[in-house]
Amino acid sequence: MTSLGVSVEDRQGVRHVVLDRPDKKNALTAAMYGVLADAVNSASADDVGALLLQARGDTFTAGNDLRDFLDQPPHGEDAPVFRFLTGIATTDVPIVAAVRGNAVGIGTTMLLHCDLVYASPSAKLKVPFVDLGLVPEAASSVLLPRRIGRARAGAALFLGETISADEAYANGIVTKIISDDALDAEAEAAARAIAAKPRQAVRETKRLITHDRDTVVAAIMREGTAFRARLASDEARAAMSAFFQRGARG
Ligand code: COA
Repeated sequence: MTSLGVSVEDRQGVRHVVLDRPDKKNALTAAMYGVLADAVNSASADDVGALLLQARGDTFTAGNDLRDFLDQPPHGEDAPVFRFLTGIATTDVPIVAAVRGNAVGIGTTMLLHCDLVYASPSAKLKVPFVDLGLVPEAASSVLLPRRIGRARAGAALFLGETISADEAYANGIVTKIISDDALDAEAEAAARAIAAKPRQAVRETKRLITHDRDTVVAAIMREGTAFRARLASDEARAAMSAFFQRGARG
């Protein structure tokens, strides 16, 4: 069922979650986070074997909808975006992602919580929080340096440098690079394979892998406090408004 820009469908033990707002490069609104949060947070009780995160169109996601950030920024820890982030950080259901094109902001940071990430050569991971007057989220201030090293994370976070599919693979953010036309099928096959395995062993393994979830959730909350304060800043509002001044973007 497609609702508010995200489609959610259960098939053969796999919950297919598809970002489905291609005209806006799958930019994520509060309403979309709500659907995503519900899909992730109910997966374990619904006996889902694996979550499969995909996107329609040429872009995984352009990150948070900047219009939403300007008009209705998240106010507290119970905002849909935080329900989604704590969900992907704490669920005991494995998450498989298929990524093509730009994965901006949360489009990259959500991948740090996935168990398998398939990417096409077109994948471009970007975390331009500082350029937008913001700070990292989704525990990426902890997980990104841990994954790619402090010095490489510095280039991504402070300079806004793109992490290519090759680099993401070399650093263990990506499981495998797959040609664009085979990407979704291979990711789905992996999710189905996990869903067919002994369910409780899968769940227990996931719980063991995410043994540091208290630390990760604490980082999400710490960053969230700073992020919400930054959203209200003149720096951030000017940077986000500039995005919508089309001429200024060339
Ligand atoms: N929030 C709101 N709208 C967005 C958006 C976002 N994050 N990203 C793209 N859009 C909209 C554009 O405004 C445009 O809408 P329009 O057709 O009504 O003018 C449409 O999606 C297509 O975007 P466009 O920029 O023309 O596509 P592109 O292929 O040239 O560039 C991106 C794609 C992703 C590189 C570019 O859109 C971008 O940089 N987006 C912002 C990313 C960002 O800073 N995200 C926040 C991270 S915290």
